[in-house]
Amino acid sequence: MDYSFSEFHKEAQRIAGWLFPNEAKTLHELASKCNHPIVDIGTFHGRSAAYLAAGSKCGNRVPVYTIDPFTQSSFYTSNIFSADANKAKLKFKENMKKLGLVDIVIPLITTSKEAARLYDIDPELILIDGDHTFDGAKLDFDCWYPKLVPNGVMAVHDYAQAVGAKRLMKECFTPQFFTEIKYVDLLAYGVKIG
Ligand SMILES: C[S@@+](CC[C@H](N)C(=O)[O-])C[C@H]1O[C@@H](n2cnc3c(N)ncnc32)[C@H](O)[C@@H]1O
Repeated sequence: MDYSFSEFHKEAQRIAGWLFPNEAKTLHELASKCNHPIVDIGTFHGRSAAYLAAGSKCGNRVPVYTIDPFTQSSFYTSNIFSADANKAKLKFKENMKKLGLVDIVIPLITTSKEAARLYDIDPELILIDGDHTFDGAKLDFDCWYPKLVPNGVMAVHDYAQAVGAKRLMKECFTPQFFTEIKYVDLLAYGVKIG
């Protein structure tokens, strides 16, 4: 398979999820530049994971750790897809297989807090797209910001829509922690202070 964004997008856009094409392209590009692992918090059917993994394949082929407990939380009972956690887990595995990404994607079936505690990973790129409450997003930040390598990138999805992500941006995406903050549709990202 051709993992360049323009070719890969023809297949990957079929994966259910909320990532817009420009956001997917940005994640693909950021992933292609990484020399250290990538962490994707909030997997669902694997849309963000797919673009991160394809980007990595176009670059240095660093592993992409995807984190999701796939438990039947309020996310599944309240969202527009009325999705099912078990179905999401199956779909995710099916999508990674279909797109030839199982060699680079490492699924961690747990919460981001537990993954941070259990696994010794120093990522260069982190996407926060899991628990969308402020407490949930802040916990992701607190657990993973210290692990991000200097000059690594932390991205947050839904910053303009989800109350939690919006507050996280306001309180934590500050000059104390980040430089070069950029916005692409509903994706915001910044470079960790070196
Ligand atoms: C918005 S979806 C993720 C969408 C995905 N990034 C995409 O591109 O399609 C949110 C996911 O976060 C997961 N989630 C909820 N709490 C979590 C936590 N504490 N740690 C990791 N994932 C979590 C949910 O199970 C759900 O599958």
